[in-house]
Formats: sequence, structure tokens, C-alpha cells
Amino acid sequence: MIIAKTPKEIEIMHSAGRYLAELLLMLRDSVFPETTTSRLNEIAEKWLHSKSLYSPFKGYRGYPCSICVSVNEQVVHGIPGKRVIKEGDLVSIDAGVVFNNYVADAAITLSVGASSKVLEDLVRTTESSLYSGISQMVEGNRLYDITHAIQSHVEANKYSLVKEFCGHGVGRKMHEEPQVPNCGHKPHTGPRLRCGWVLAIEPMVNMGLPDVRIESDGWTVVTRDGRPSAHFEHTVAITSNGPLILTAL
Ligand code: MF3
Ligand code: CO
Repeated sequence: MIIAKTPKEIEIMHSAGRYLAELLLMLRDSVFPETTTSRLNEIAEKWLHSKSLYSPFKGYRGYPCSICVSVNEQVVHGIPGKRVIKEGDLVSIDAGVVFNNYVADAAITLSVGASSKVLEDLVRTTESSLYSGISQMVEGNRLYDITHAIQSHVEANKYSLVKEFCGHGVGRKMHEEPQVPNCGHKPHTGPRLRCGWVLAIEPMVNMGLPDVRIESDGWTVVTRDGRPSAHFEHTVAITSNGPLILTAL
């Protein structure tokens, strides 16, 4: 069942999203060479605590931290730890906020220090594929119009999409129906989009081959070929005025 939200609920989720945007901007400004990924988690937890907010990630299926930090070949769900961030690394930060029992979920990717053109192009393409997916979030379109927009943008730029993980509905729970695949569907198919749906759209884009595996920690998703991967995510409501990005930075 796909739960449509009332305008009031969307307003609460927008508040959650504004907090989350503030958190992500702060974390983005905390990424320096020699910082550890666990330091970023500490900064996030201090900030959340100071605002009396919490993360929907912590404790989710036993996940131990409040954010995910995925470096270079790590695609998503990197557990913050002792890994030291280096100049030239590609760092994805995925975070969530619960405000008044509603969840916002978003992610950004940035390259550290003087960035290479090669990594910058991957980052730009991933982010713009997110926006091309979001632009399809109009009542009356179909769910896989979003998928197709993401996939065609990424493939036009000769990168590959991770098949194993999807976007999702979001609301009182972090993961609600429907799943929003990033590839593998024809346009003009899938359920019709309705006003009040709130979806987290989150393309994961690999520089090399699409294949991934999960590391022995049970969480960290890495590319099989060891090449870098980028991830962007927004929580977006479908309104009568079109898509409303609740986590806009
Ligand atoms: N943004 C991720 C998602 O939508 C975050 C979940 S990871 C977990 O699935 F750590 F919370 F489990
Ligand atoms: Co998500």
C-alpha cells in the first residue's frame, strides 16, 4: 500500500527535510583530509542531539551509526569507522532525520580537495540524474518514468547504475512502498503517481561496471571492480504544483 500524505504531513516532512539539509551542509563542510569517517558520525550525533532530533538509521536492522559514509569504491551503507579520508577521495554522506515522527532521507557526494575532472564528471552526472528523475514526479505520470529518466541520463554519460538498491517511499517509516528502481523499466509503465506521495529518489552510479558486493561487516556495499561510485538522494513530495524537494540544500 502506498501512503499518500496530507498537506499537513508534508509540511512536517519539510521541516524534517530542512533540518536534514542543514545537517548535510554542516557535514559537507567537515570533510577534510585526515578526518576519519567516524568523526563525521560524531559531528552528526552531536548536532542531532543538540536539536533533540534523531537518525532513523541508528538501530535500523542493527545499523550502528546515525549516518553512512561511503568512500571511493564504497557505493552506499559505509559504516563510519577508522577509515581516514584522503585528498582526492570521493565521499558520499547519507543521512536521515526524524522530526515529529516523520522521516527525511538524503545523500550527497563530494570529492575532497583539488578534485579531478574525472571524479567531478561522475558526481555531476549522478546529481543531474537525480534531478531528471525528480522532474518526472508529476501527478499522472507513472512510477517508471522516474526510473527511465534516471537510467537514460546515466547511460547517455556512459556510466552504470547499481541494480540491487532502489529509492523508496518515505513517511513515518524510512522505507515505505513503493520501491523506486533506478534502472530496468520501460517508460510509461508502473503505478500512476499521485499527489501526496513522498518518495526518496537515490541513484547510485558507478564509474566502471555495475556489479557490487557486500563486505564482511554485512553493510558496506562496494563495487566489484574497485572503481569509484557516487550517490545522491532527496526526499521529494508530489504536489499539485509538481515535485517539491523537501531536503533541498
Ligand atoms: N538512505 C539509505 C536508504 O534509504 C539509508 C539506510 S541505511 C541504514 O536505505 F543504515 F539506515 F540502514
Ligand atoms: Co533512502
